[in-house]
Amino acid sequence: MLFPFFSLISCLVVRIAAVPTPSATVEHDHVHNVHRALPGSWYHDQDHPVHELFKRAPPGDGTTYADVAWSAGFPQSSPDPNALPAAWVSALNAAVAAGSIPNIPQSTNTPGVNPVYPSGVNPNGPQVCSATYKCRIPGDIWDSPNGVFASSFDDGPTPSTPTLVNFLSSVNQTTTHFMIGINVIYYPNQFLTAFNAGHDIAVHTWTHPYMTTLSNLQVVGQLGWTMQMIHNSTGGRVPKYWRPPYGDSDTRVSAIAKEVFGLQTVVWNQDTSDWNGTPQSIGTALTGFLASPKSPGLIILEHELTDITVNAFIAAYPQIKSTGWNFSSLASVVGDGRTYQNAQNSASNDVQPDSILVGAASSAVNSSSTIASSTSTGSTAGVTSSGASSAAASGSSNTKSSAALPIISSFTSAHITLLIACVTGALVLSS
Ligand SMILES: *[C@@H]1O[C@H](CO)[C@@H](O)[C@H](O)[C@H]1NC(C)=O
Ligand SMILES: *[C@@H]1O[C@H](CO)[C@@H](O)[C@H](O)[C@H]1NC(C)=O
Ligand SMILES: *[C@@H]1O[C@H](CO)[C@@H](O)[C@H](O)[C@H]1NC(C)=O
Ligand SMILES: *[C@@H]1O[C@H](CO)[C@@H](O)[C@H](O)[C@H]1NC(C)=O
Ligand SMILES: [Zn+2]
Repeated sequence: MLFPFFSLISCLVVRIAAVPTPSATVEHDHVHNVHRALPGSWYHDQDHPVHELFKRAPPGDGTTYADVAWSAGFPQSSPDPNALPAAWVSALNAAVAAGSIPNIPQSTNTPGVNPVYPSGVNPNGPQVCSATYKCRIPGDIWDSPNGVFASSFDDGPTPSTPTLVNFLSSVNQTTTHFMIGINVIYYPNQFLTAFNAGHDIAVHTWTHPYMTTLSNLQVVGQLGWTMQMIHNSTGGRVPKYWRPPYGDSDTRVSAIAKEVFGLQTVVWNQDTSDWNGTPQSIGTALTGFLASPKSPGLIILEHELTDITVNAFIAAYPQIKSTGWNFSSLASVVGDGRTYQNAQNSASNDVQPDSILVGAASSAVNSSSTIASSTSTGSTAGVTSSGASSAAASGSSNTKSSAALPIISSFTSAHITLLIACVTGALVLSS
């Protein structure tokens, strides 16, 4: 009697925690015989347009940053493609004019189903090469160097982020966090916990959409605002890596990321399905991956969604060592070692001042610390990427005092929908 009841509850808990993620139908990539040389260097030269995009007036320009509405300048929902910074639009237009952005159709999808392209368009062909269909675009990252467990976690920051960070601190390690931009508004303290511990911060879009379904301008908004938020909250660092939600990218989206923002696309070569898993299933998956050959190295899809997903990783951590893998933060091992485009890492003092927002960024961090005390108390367990999308739909206001409320109220409907879906098994849960 207890077991079905527990299953229902755990199902519900996971569902609440992972509203956008249940449609993660990107299947595993178990291919181990694909070898591709990883780029030794990727970040853009100083004359690349990306370095113009985040410039502002020099420090001491008189700008002040309101504690109350430090996030007011950022989208409170899906970014409006008609209200983007002009520099981003110009950079996109220049890249399109230069022929750098493939002119391929957008995909369409209904939640829970892989995106599809118009008939006649081959998602596995070189024109589209959709990562959802496991087509690997040259230059995108799917594997890590031999023998390396290239660690990363998606969908943060969340209330479970400190659990992960504190554990890794205890073993003197860091990881790469592919963060959802709007989640930083809701969990600034948790964001800072990761950044201040020296962890690498990367981009997982603003509201976690299927990126290939979006227009070019929408893609720019999803990436640009997340970069801007990370930039303003990390002392001016410009992220270097992004991971598409659901692993959904194609030649067009990948090119926008690279040509407009200098971002390199990172997918994965193993998937624990932790967002949908039990401690047992996640542990079994990890054990299997750790027992597999060490070429190529591992890039495992993991999430910092809940204590379930984080604790499953923590439980498996000793096996990483005992099976001889070299655990490393992904961003520090898949390229030249620099984890940002304009800085060595989160702890370095070498942020290049000619391409970034120096003074303001530290203010933003301090403001974030202030706001956290008011927002974090309003959080419910597992408000994560779902918070992003449900807050996005709720039209929340810009003030910090109301920031937590839209999550909770909009959770009710999401919660009910997902409970029904969970109980009836109606959700598509492939892979
Ligand atoms: C792990 O790193 C150490 C030191 O860099 C190296 O000697 C060892 O060969 C690596 N192990 C694997 C499995 O790559
Ligand atoms: C922690 O890791 C760093 C970087 O790998 C290393 O330099 C340092 O010696 C380590 N400290 C301990 C206590 O293991
Ligand atoms: C980011 O910080 C810069 C100052 O460095 C500021 O001008 C800008 O308004 C901030 N962006 C947002 C969206 O708040
Ligand atoms: C931010 O906080 C640090 C330490 O808490 C402080 O030294 C610094 O002056 C603060 N910066 C601003 C702009 O308030
Ligand atoms: Zn995600």
